[in-house]
Formats: sequence, C-alpha cells, structure tokens
Amino acid sequence: MSERIVKMRPEHLPEILSIERSSFPDPWSENMFREEMKEDGRRIFLVLESDGKVAGYAVGWVVLDEFHLGNIAVVAEKRRSGYGRRLLEEILKQVYQLGCRMASLEVRSSNESAVELYKTFGFRPIAIRKKYYQNEDALVMMSEIVPVKSC
Ligand SMILES: CC(C)(COP(=O)(O)OP(=O)(O)OC[C@H]1O[C@@H](n2cnc3c(N)ncnc32)[C@H](O)[C@@H]1OP(=O)(O)O)[C@@H](O)C(=O)NCCC(=O)NCCS
Repeated sequence: MSERIVKMRPEHLPEILSIERSSFPDPWSENMFREEMKEDGRRIFLVLESDGKVAGYAVGWVVLDEFHLGNIAVVAEKRRSGYGRRLLEEILKQVYQLGCRMASLEVRSSNESAVELYKTFGFRPIAIRKKYYQNEDALVMMSEIVPVKSC
C-alpha cells in the first residue's frame, strides 16, 4: 500500500467534500477549502493519500508563533489506522519549522475520538466556548509543540 502526505490540491476536493459531509453535522463548503488552498505562508493544508485516494486531510493557520488547527478528518473506513496521528504529526512538524511553539484547536466536547487523539499529542482543555457549534459547546485545547525526534 502506498501512502504519502501531500499538499491539498483542487483535484482532491470531490473526495475531501465527501469525507467532510459524512464526518461533520456542519461541514465546510467547497469554497472554504478553496480559500484554505491559497499559498500565503500562513495556511497549511495537507492530504494523506493512500493508493492515490484521499484517506484524510488536515488544515490550519499560523498566527505568529501559534498554530490553530482548523479541520482534520479521516475517511470512515480507514479510521483507527494511525492516519489522524500521522496528519497531526506532520502538520505540527511543519509549523514547528515555521516557528510555532504552541498549538490550539476547538473540538466538540462529545467527540471522544478526536479528544483522545489530541491528548496523545499533549493537548489539554483550557476553556469552553459556549455555543461554538450549532448545538454544542466547544472545548478549547492547547499544547506546546515539541520537535519530533527522528530515529
Ligand atoms: C478524529 C479522527 C481524525 C481520528 O483519526 P484516526 O485516523 O481514526 O486516528 P488514529 O488512528 O490516528 O488514532 C490515534 C490515537 O487517537 C486516539 N483515538 C482515535 N480514535 C479513537 C477512538 N475512536 N476512541 C478512542 N481513542 C481514539 C487513540 O489514542 C489512537 O491511538 P491508538 O489507536 O494507538 O489507541 C477521526 O476519528 C475522524 O476523522 N473523525 C471525524 C472527524 C472529526 O471529528 N475530526 C475532528 C474535528 S475536531
């Protein structure tokens, strides 16, 4: 099986939108993803391809020395295969190289799989954003970004 993490490209969009719509009650639109693909040195937009198909993606923004994770999802049939971890590892590695030392994100408090994934990277809840989602509060989580050790 061939797997690689690449920059998100417009041709990934149909698969991304299908994953997005089946993963979230309030999915991002095509235009939101297109906006994120603008190269401005602040946006990071990655896709994990498995045998040429989109298996997952992650998007976020660099704000000075802080990184904010905006979106991450893995196609349902490939969840719990380590893809979410690989995407998060790669995006944190890239933003560390850009000078980011802290990372933040919002997550539905009921989203156990995501919260567990984030905890394995050292993210801890720091606040609750009331009614951030249509019908639910968001947990704000934050982590220090540490350099990834290579073997
Ligand atoms: C959250 C999500 C991206 C995780 O991706 P994934 O590829 O399934 O996660 P991984 O296989 O890399 O898991 C890494 C670790 O996260 C934790 N984790 C992931 N899914 C979990 C689950 N269902 N229950 C408990 N822990 C879980 C575990 O610690 C896991 O390590 P382990 O498998 O060695 O125990 C995926 O579930 C998803 O796409 N969910 C829908 C979209 C979403 O909610 N995104 C987050 C928005 S804030």
